[in-house]
Amino acid sequence: MVFITLEGIEGSGKTTQLRKLAERIPNVLVTKEPGGTPTADRIRAILLDTREKIDPVAELFLFAASRRQHVTEVIRPALAEGRVVICDRFTDATLAYQGFGRLLDLDRLRGLNDWATDSLKPDLTLIFDLPEEVGLTRARSRNTKAPLDEGRFELEDLRFHRRVREGYLALAASDPKRYAVIDATGAADEVFARTWQVLQERVPI
Ligand code: TYD
Repeated sequence: MVFITLEGIEGSGKTTQLRKLAERIPNVLVTKEPGGTPTADRIRAILLDTREKIDPVAELFLFAASRRQHVTEVIRPALAEGRVVICDRFTDATLAYQGFGRLLDLDRLRGLNDWATDSLKPDLTLIFDLPEEVGLTRARSRNTKAPLDEGRFELEDLRFHRRVREGYLALAASDPKRYAVIDATGAADEVFARTWQVLQERVPI
């Protein structure tokens, strides 16, 4: 019963790392936000659709609704069965993107996160850190190959992504026990070696 979340800006490579982790950890459930249940996946489609013009607070509530459904239907039951749950983005993405990125009030966001999750907190949050220019270039080149994957957040400018990155680093600095910052520059295998080392030091799996 260990709950690990992966965070980082666009193109930080966390999804590749998640796949590698899943191969090494027994009895693991891998999931992602927004989404993770049929209802939450429908909310995800709205959130990422570039044709939608969504008010920042409405956007926040959609993330919270998706999260509530996901925690209730998938994450808590898996933890209760004693599984290791690894989630690609969770409550910290709301603080980083809606708080530091969209400049919504952090205390309110924390309150909403607690409400949506009944105060479920990850045991460990890995933050994959790299310069926003590098991340965005990676994310955009990936989207040229698969244009349908392009999301509304990748269309935001560099300043937005710089705020998100700095937000993640500020969160990590505020609670070094719960977060670990991982240098996400370099080849995927090098990043994985760093990730695996942190995991072995920090959680019993
Ligand atoms: P996704 O395609 O899953 O991106 P990534 O592979 O980078 O995780 O899109 C999710 C987007 O939603 C991503 O840009 C971050 C954003 N997001 C928020 O703004 N707030 C949140 O609470 C969550 C979970 C995600």
